[in-house]
Amino acid sequence: MVTISINGNAEEIDVDPAMPLLWAVRERLGMTGTKFGCGIAQCGACTMHLDGEPIRSCSTPISAAEGKEVTTIEGIADPDGTLSKVQQAWISEQVPQCGYCQSGQIMSATALLRETPRPTDEQIKAYMSGNICRCGMYGRIRKAIKVAAGIETTTRMDSAEEVSA
Ligand code: FES
Ligand code: FES
Repeated sequence: MVTISINGNAEEIDVDPAMPLLWAVRERLGMTGTKFGCGIAQCGACTMHLDGEPIRSCSTPISAAEGKEVTTIEGIADPDGTLSKVQQAWISEQVPQCGYCQSGQIMSATALLRETPRPTDEQIKAYMSGNICRCGMYGRIRKAIKVAAGIETTTRMDSAEEVSA
């Protein structure tokens, strides 16, 4: 039995302590927002936060999360349901294509902005380099991060409104 705190709730999970955190969260807790990509810490699809730090949950045993706070994509909106600035920017910039990598991208972007509230393009590229997007949405991801940081304003919603007007 392993007890973890996830998105503010204590959960007791009857698993082998060596089980990857990703499996426990998806299969035992039914929280499927975090995705499985490569399974070898190379793509970033499975990114969660452990005490606020981004980790690759496919390669982190659940035992490593005992006594720490796990945050997943399900836990980054405010408790009243207000989306985080990063999530809002992801919507306004229409970042996802297939969407598969995006919860990992959002978790990494959230950690980046906590560490570096006004990142440069180079800082964004360096920090986000471990999150692979097979659809190649890197430009939109970078723009959304800058919108969330307040460095740039969104343009996409304006053009969407123009189209529908
Ligand atoms: S699934 Fe964990 S890094 Fe790719
Ligand atoms: S949006 Fe398809 S993998 Fe990133």
